[in-house]
Amino acid sequence: MAQLNINGRSHQVDVEPDTPLLWAIREQVGLTGTKYGCGVAQCGACSVHMDGAAVRSCVIPVSAAEGKKITTIEGLASGNVLHKVQKAWVDHEVPQCGYCQTGMIMAVAALLKDKPQPTDADIDATITNICRCGTFQQVREAIHAAAKA
Ligand code: FES
Ligand code: FES
Repeated sequence: MAQLNINGRSHQVDVEPDTPLLWAIREQVGLTGTKYGCGVAQCGACSVHMDGAAVRSCVIPVSAAEGKKITTIEGLASGNVLHKVQKAWVDHEVPQCGYCQTGMIMAVAALLKDKPQPTDADIDATITNICRCGTFQQVREAIHAAAKA
């Protein structure tokens, strides 16, 4: 058993301590916006925030997430008000199939918190999420739009 704080709520999860946080989020808590892609911290589909930093939840054991503040895509908006990154994503019609996009948005939200006006070099260095649909150009445009919002 472990206690996780996800999107401001406390959840008891019945998993081994070394279970990846991703599976606790999806299968125990039932928040399925966070996706599984590679399982080895390469694709970014599973990105969530842990104490405000973007992490790849497929390689974070539940034991390392206890006592931390976890935010998933379901907790990014404030009530009915979209986060500025979500709004920019809608305005710029970024998603194609959508599979990678929740992780992409979480990574970008963390980037803009650390660097409110990122350069293209900052984006290239930080947003290493993989999108098989090739939305990278729209992602870049939407990041710059969100930075101006
Ligand atoms: S599923 Fe975690 S980085 Fe790919
Ligand atoms: S939108 Fe399809 S994988 Fe990124």
